[in-house]
Amino acid sequence: MGEWVALREDDGRAYLVHRVPGEVKVKGLGRFDAEKMLDGYGIGDRITVGQKTLSIVNPRLPEARRNMSRRAQVIGAKDAGFLVSWMGIGVGSKVLEGGHGSGGLAMHLASVLGRSGTLISVENRNEHAEVGSANMKRLEQVLPEFPDWHLIEGDLASSGSVASGICDDLDAAIIDVAEPWTVISEIVPLLRIGGRLACYCPTTSQLEKSWDEVERLGLIVEWSGEMVERRWTKASKGGVRPGNQPMGHTAFLLISARIASEEE
Ligand SMILES: C[S@@+](CC[C@H](N)C(=O)[O-])C[C@H]1O[C@@H](n2cnc3c(N)ncnc32)[C@H](O)[C@@H]1O
Repeated sequence: MGEWVALREDDGRAYLVHRVPGEVKVKGLGRFDAEKMLDGYGIGDRITVGQKTLSIVNPRLPEARRNMSRRAQVIGAKDAGFLVSWMGIGVGSKVLEGGHGSGGLAMHLASVLGRSGTLISVENRNEHAEVGSANMKRLEQVLPEFPDWHLIEGDLASSGSVASGICDDLDAAIIDVAEPWTVISEIVPLLRIGGRLACYCPTTSQLEKSWDEVERLGLIVEWSGEMVERRWTKASKGGVRPGNQPMGHTAFLLISARIASEEE
């Protein structure tokens, strides 16, 4: 099958290369036969390709993310990392996410679920599903462990029965679509008691409508807000300080939990 390696520039840019015979074109590196070029080199070595000197490293999530194809807007490490930790997602968890888009969030989830985990992705646009699926298939070859992954090509608003055929006691569900409040009622019955549902809401009106809907369905809002990322830099005359780049907005997050219903 040939192993995947990452050729890493010192600044963190990286190129995924499949060590198999035959000429390939790798964007940013050019055309070459990877097997011939890497002959005699291994993980941890330094290699020169064209003008670039690169470290050969084992690819993991960051390298796969830098090489992924993008069609829809993707959820990045700032928000995905928080969702994973707050929602208690880890090895063996059962998780549903949608819309799948280019698979940005799904890649983060796949990297922590291990082979005992289950991940269900839902996407209603065929051209997005194709891009996301290609990114996930490559990640599967790159990670040491990959979950039991299912892609449902359909609308979240009517995917409940297909998803429950795969798993009906989800630990977590994360909704990233334009109108989350229209699909939440379809997903909530799939959650185990104590399971969590999160909505990724770029605007305040999406947040408010989703908040009202989870409360209407009896879920308890555990956390809502946004993650603010402020990068620091090394100053030229010494010291470290916040950089000049603006602090961007991604989305407001809403995390809620399904609780047991009232005793009769
Ligand atoms: C912003 S993108 C998702 C990005 C993804 N979470 C990521 O991190 O890469 C939103 C996706 O949801 C899909 N979508 C919108 N409404 C949907 C629905 N009702 N059911 C399934 N997918 C939907 C869109 O086609 C689009 O691909």
